[in-house]
Amino acid sequence: MPLPFLRKKKSPLWDRIHSDDATRLRLKYDTYYHIFQEQKGTRVTKDGQEFIMLSSNDYLGLARHPKIREAGIEAMRQWGSGTTGARLANGGRIFHQRLEEKLADFVGKEACHVFSAGYLACASAVTGFAERKDRIFADKNLHSSLWSGIQLSGATCERFAHNNPGHLREILEDEEEATAKLFVLEGVYSMEGHIAKLPEFVELAQAHRAFVVLDDAHGFGVLGEQGRGTADHFGLADEVDALCSSFSKSLAGSGGFVASTREGIDYMRSHSKQTIFSAALSPASCACAEAALEIMREEPEHRERLFRNLKRYRSILEALNLDVWESETPAIPIVLGEKEKVYYFWKALLEKGVYTIISIAPGVPPGKDLIRTAISAAHTDEDLDRIEEAMAYAKSKI
Ligand SMILES: Cc1ncc(COP(=O)(O)O)c(C=O)c1O
Repeated sequence: MPLPFLRKKKSPLWDRIHSDDATRLRLKYDTYYHIFQEQKGTRVTKDGQEFIMLSSNDYLGLARHPKIREAGIEAMRQWGSGTTGARLANGGRIFHQRLEEKLADFVGKEACHVFSAGYLACASAVTGFAERKDRIFADKNLHSSLWSGIQLSGATCERFAHNNPGHLREILEDEEEATAKLFVLEGVYSMEGHIAKLPEFVELAQAHRAFVVLDDAHGFGVLGEQGRGTADHFGLADEVDALCSSFSKSLAGSGGFVASTREGIDYMRSHSKQTIFSAALSPASCACAEAALEIMREEPEHRERLFRNLKRYRSILEALNLDVWESETPAIPIVLGEKEKVYYFWKALLEKGVYTIISIAPGVPPGKDLIRTAISAAHTDEDLDRIEEAMAYAKSKI
């Protein structure tokens, strides 16, 4: 008699699971969900082979900073592992409030709410404000967390061409003046590395009395004074109505936040299910984010190093004539345009000990199949030498 777990379950849904092509291909090509047994700085090890990590979003290289580790350990000692409930149900803790005040102050807002994931924060920045009868205007290339928020809000949505205020202006011409409108944008687009044309979008928002939601997961820590983000970079913090971001990029932890006016945050706390029904951010994650924020304020050398590395990395890619889709930031795609080319390029990089990630259509627009890379302040000169060599090798293979 076969062991129960060797028998294939049968039902319409299990039949779909057994025959799913996306999973079969993913497992065949073994491109995602790798497990590393060790990590030291930018180096990760899998089955005895070491790779330079070139796809994590640890832009400032803070993931192993001693002050952050200490803060996390101390919070665990004092508060334990979690608060085991949603803020609405069993209350927040003083460390949530402290972090929220510091974050709000840093990004130039009155108030803030922290979440246990950036995904929740960014979905909440939409669901917390939009309702069924509203109209949402969304950049075509938004992150999945924002699309989730848009869908869950029940509002109707128009997509405009990526980072194209001209197209949005055309769409808005036919809109009812009295309808509540939201613009949903990213500060720095995660796949493309493009900076939002925020001044033009804000001008349109003012003309049409729209509420601006800005996901700055990839701008926070990178752009603006001390890394205050994209809105600060343009001097437009006030004009963004709800700013959301993640702790899993520059802050090198996990969690996320939404910042707005005091009234805006109170409103979101009454209306967003992701805020009301999800457990509070853990003590250690909160303490790590607070320590990382302090480091961003007090240790400018990490950002300086990031921009030095970015300059060198860009020059490596440019010298090889690789298409970086006009990325202006440390999130840098290498557009190869065909999934086979992307796969062979990625394999060649792996062979040379450089770990990156593949993104192919429909995850990116057709013809934009790419390798997504991100440079960090933690990359050493030796890492960059090896990346240069690996890129030249990969280019020769396609
Ligand atoms: C633009 C953007 N928004 C939101 C998120 C979600 O953040 P987190 O990974 O912290 O859940 C990400 C992370 O991939 C992102 O790139």
